[in-house]
Amino acid sequence: MFVSDCLNVNQQGHLTIGGCDTLELAAAFGTPLYVMDEATIVNNCRKYVDSIKTYYNGNGRVYYASKAFCCKEICRIMENEQMGLDVVSAGEIYTAMSTGFPAERLCFHGNNKTSAEINYALDCGVGRFMVDNLTELALLNRLALERNKKAVVLLRIKPGIDAHTHNFIRTGQIDSKFGLALETGEAEEAIKEAITMAGINLTGIHCHIGSQIFDLAPFELAAEVMVNFMADMRDRHGAKFTELNLGGGFGIKYVPEQDPVPYDRYMEAVSETVKKTCLARDMDTPFIMLEPGRSIVASAGITLYTVGAVKEIPGIRTYVSIDGGMGDNPRYALYQAEYAAVVADRAAEKPTATVTIAGKCCESGDLIQEHTAIQPAEAGNILAVFATGAYNYSMASNYNRIPRPAAVMIRDQEPRVIIKRETFDDLVHNDV
Ligand code: LLP
Repeated sequence: MFVSDCLNVNQQGHLTIGGCDTLELAAAFGTPLYVMDEATIVNNCRKYVDSIKTYYNGNGRVYYASKAFCCKEICRIMENEQMGLDVVSAGEIYTAMSTGFPAERLCFHGNNKTSAEINYALDCGVGRFMVDNLTELALLNRLALERNKKAVVLLRIKPGIDAHTHNFIRTGQIDSKFGLALETGEAEEAIKEAITMAGINLTGIHCHIGSQIFDLAPFELAAEVMVNFMADMRDRHGAKFTELNLGGGFGIKYVPEQDPVPYDRYMEAVSETVKKTCLARDMDTPFIMLEPGRSIVASAGITLYTVGAVKEIPGIRTYVSIDGGMGDNPRYALYQAEYAAVVADRAAEKPTATVTIAGKCCESGDLIQEHTAIQPAEAGNILAVFATGAYNYSMASNYNRIPRPAAVMIRDQEPRVIIKRETFDDLVHNDV
């Protein structure tokens, strides 16, 4: 009925998540409130982990891309599930380390890692560096040598696949701030340099072809391009690669019309391509790394808001204003992202109203969704926006000095606070 299996309607006609009444959650913890269902997160992790066991002999690891939603409790859940973590800043590394997450299972991304971040990562013992460019390669080599260490490195490659068009295209795509281009010879140059560097242990290559992708074909093509490139670099330069990181980007259901591929199908399809291409090129199959972010956490989360002003502009539209907005979810303002919502008090009723959901910021573009169908809403109702588990809290801001909401995780129908609501004191904490 809804976009995620953890959502339902109880006898009172209220929306539930993980078996908890959302009106009770709103009353107990206040709004706006991020609510996450732990079982959904755990099941998603297991689908990916099991798919590597089933289709690839277990010869791989799933790294949750923590940029999607990063906090201590998520790191603990990932550790329980034996996942790795894809981290993109010293702040994400720090969060993981503060929970005792094994540094060996971190892979460190970023197109402009600072010296301070690289030093911190080296000192922590971060397992893999995903090196983005030649400047970083030289810097990492120098900083590793200063510490008598050898950094384990995969080079981020642009495989030249644009998966965002409806019929994805295999063209240039060299105009990206991320990675080393194949076409220009830049990637080959980096490999030639990396294999001579004493502070670098080059084990493989990485690519990430985009986000919210529904087709399998671009992933298969990327895998084929990458394996062939590994074989070419072995033949031309004697590079010995054992690892292939294929990134994340697997699509999720934001609105009922969307129909994402079951997550284990990615590994099924990609492993076929990798095995076939390796056989053709007389190569051992590499250790595979995947980096799903959105598809692990998005559908586990909802955001609960309290409805305030409802403004009907005859012949134009009806604005339903909520007590949050672009501060806790900037994705519509940034990307016109699609979301489905319900009035949680009347979740069983038909959505007969067409409204624009507006936030409370001083900004006309502060909207969560335009012209969307929900149940008729009035002040005091609880509005639930679905699939907000990814790139909401992690992209939240304090615009207009609005405190960030709390986040609650539900396990076995028991909610617990995993991120406290920000206070006004938090807002002025760093002011001098
Ligand atoms: N690996 C790399 C190298 C990435 O750059 C990303 C996402 C991921 C993995 C995870 O991708 P996912 O599985 O979550 O699609 N803020 C945007 C999304 C930005 C994604 C950036 N990179 C949004 O709200 O849609």
